[in-house]
Amino acid sequence: MNEILLDARQVEKQFGGIRALASVDVQQAVGETLGMIGPNGSGKTTFVNVVSGHLSIDAGSISFAGAPISGRRPHAITRAGLTRTYQAVRVFSKLTVADNLRTTALAAGREEGVKDSHVRELIHWLELDRRLDAIAGMLTLFEQRRLELAMRLALRPKLVMLDEPVGGLSAVEITHMMKLLGELKTRYSLFVIEHTMRVIRELADRVVVLVSGQKIADGRPEEILRDERVVRNYLGSQGA
Ligand SMILES: Nc1ncnc2c1ncn2[C@@H]1O[C@H](COP(=O)(O)OP(=O)(O)OP(=O)(O)O)[C@@H](O)[C@H]1O
Ligand SMILES: [Mg+2]
Repeated sequence: MNEILLDARQVEKQFGGIRALASVDVQQAVGETLGMIGPNGSGKTTFVNVVSGHLSIDAGSISFAGAPISGRRPHAITRAGLTRTYQAVRVFSKLTVADNLRTTALAAGREEGVKDSHVRELIHWLELDRRLDAIAGMLTLFEQRRLELAMRLALRPKLVMLDEPVGGLSAVEITHMMKLLGELKTRYSLFVIEHTMRVIRELADRVVVLVSGQKIADGRPEEILRDERVVRNYLGSQGA
């Protein structure tokens, strides 16, 4: 494996009586696109929440880019270069697209917002040029997902964690988003949670499978997607 970017060891997270993450080990190399799959409620979003600092862990350790991050606040982890999107897209719905981007730039300590050349490139690449004055809450879900992505990428992260990036999109939009993610993959390390196996098959270099908070498989998509335990515990019931 190349240099390790994300190193989660023996991570535990309990919610009342539910063991949402049970001694989970996940390593991701620099430049790698890592997929995470598993049934509803298997702990995938919880994993992203603990890595990004939105939830604390009960035991174990998490390192990012060689430094421990468990216990650090989300904004400190973001500043260290780890960013994430949300399963239910998060943008400032009452602000315009331009103001959403300005807000992120400000949070990152830059004031230029949409005038920043990197932000302009993102706007163009994500085809948001003609929507800059639109109120974010009035955009389609696909446009909101692209805006959320632009806001995260404006921070020039080292790792982008995507929680169901094609969730709720139409078949045509999924194809479009996959093209964008394919381009993103050449420039960033990506971590992708998905139920749409086409995304995992075509984008992931490696995939880990969670079932009831436990990692049951870890390997190349072509092997994992026909692994008997994965089919029995997840894919068999999914029709994917
Ligand atoms: N903040 C929370 N408080 C209490 N329980 C939670 C919380 N977050 C998640 N859970 C529980 O932890 C378990 C794992 O949930 P999680 O959202 O991580 O699953 P998931 O794999 O992302 O599922 P999905 O594919 O449906 O998004 C579930 O039983 C869920 O109800
Ligand atoms: Mg989830």
